[in-house]
Amino acid sequence: MDKFIIEGPAPLKGTVPISGSKNAALPLMAASLLGDSKSTIHTVPRLKDIYTFNEVIKETGTNVQFLEKDNRLEINPVNLNSLFAPYELVRKMRASFYMLGALIGHSGEAKVSLPGGCAWGPRPVDLHLKGFETMGVNIRLDKGYVYASMDNATVEGGEFTLNPSSVGATINLVLGAVKRAKKFVIKNAAKEPDVVLLCKMLKQMGADIEGIGTDTLIIQKVDSLQGVVFSNDPDRIETGTFMIAAALHPESEVTLAGCKPEDLGAFPKSFKKLGLDFKIDDSNIHIKSNPDIRPVSVTTKIYPGFPTDLQAQWATLMTQAHGTSVITDTVYFDRFSYVPELNRLGANLKVEKNRVTVHGKTPLTGASVMSTDLRASVSLVLAALVAEGTSEILRVYHLDRGYEQLEKKLNRAGASITRMPQ
Ligand code: EPZ
Repeated sequence: MDKFIIEGPAPLKGTVPISGSKNAALPLMAASLLGDSKSTIHTVPRLKDIYTFNEVIKETGTNVQFLEKDNRLEINPVNLNSLFAPYELVRKMRASFYMLGALIGHSGEAKVSLPGGCAWGPRPVDLHLKGFETMGVNIRLDKGYVYASMDNATVEGGEFTLNPSSVGATINLVLGAVKRAKKFVIKNAAKEPDVVLLCKMLKQMGADIEGIGTDTLIIQKVDSLQGVVFSNDPDRIETGTFMIAAALHPESEVTLAGCKPEDLGAFPKSFKKLGLDFKIDDSNIHIKSNPDIRPVSVTTKIYPGFPTDLQAQWATLMTQAHGTSVITDTVYFDRFSYVPELNRLGANLKVEKNRVTVHGKTPLTGASVMSTDLRASVSLVLAALVAEGTSEILRVYHLDRGYEQLEKKLNRAGASITRMPQ
């Protein structure tokens, strides 16, 4: 297990490149299993979650080649001969549960482990299962596994409303329906860019999907899908994370390169209210911070609202704002494990139900803190960048799941982060 030693405070200067999206790449990988030939996906980030999902996919006999230095992934399902996704692998990464939809789509049958626990929760999959049952797929649970089967090669489909709207359930149901359901309508479907990109790839493969980008997806089965060459999106959550990093220190001046600003939804609107210099031009975002960051209260919502995956990072930023702000998470009601750790650095945060009140501006002082999940971990790294003195961030494996070359990118911009064995 590694840890980070971070010396602060350090302003960030220069250009930071944005990598491919983790949460968009994973469904594209699952979609590749539906093709009758090889698919090639460009701009795939070298992240632990991608390697884990490669292992899950290889388990089915599918050929996976990750040409890491080019961030290119080739997936050829022609030899797919097993419909099993084991607990040992699925428990490492929840999105492995997309194998349920991919294998139902591929063969009309699947044995997939239920996803394990998560650093915060509950993170149920009831909507995934109810959606497949509505579609006409037989679903049985036994000893932690989901057994899916179909009486015929095709199911009727029907209509299913997601309540609440769920990214994962939308993705899983689309994967299962495109080759199996005569007509399947998903209401209150997630509209995240990750879902839109998946639908675009499936359409390029030959799928029949209407309503892409809206909250109603209409899928009509096609008999076969072809492998494609497809490009992944830049990571919108990494982009938001680095925008926040660039706002933290008053003397920071940063350009984020290779972004897709239109995927940021409502985030730029909140970011603008901070009162710093901020300009979006094409795929670059320029940020010049200042000593008078304003407190900005936010409420997370499904896309295009303020992303829950930037909630923890925003809390870190609000510790440096002049005044009090309130951050409410309406997607996950208990995603606040970072709060006690931030307070150890000198922050003044108070959690009440699904909201955290941040009193700023509080000077932060280096300390040892513990990572608990991917986004909580990066909020601690950001805080350590502006804390006075040395911070130690333990269990950075959480970061390696979702941020490609994080310390390299930050050190190139002027941070002082050393990775060492814990
Ligand atoms: C995806 O998770 C992302 N993961 C999460 O990012 C992100 O936080 C989340 O969407 C919300 O945007 C990936 O894309 C791999 P949901 P997912 O199903 O699909 C409830 C990160 O940091 N729900 O949209 O699991 C659920 O409890 C990760 O990269 C049900 O009730 O999220 C939650 O309250 C963390 N029943 C809400 O829906 C279900 O069957 C949204 O969850 C499914 C979900």
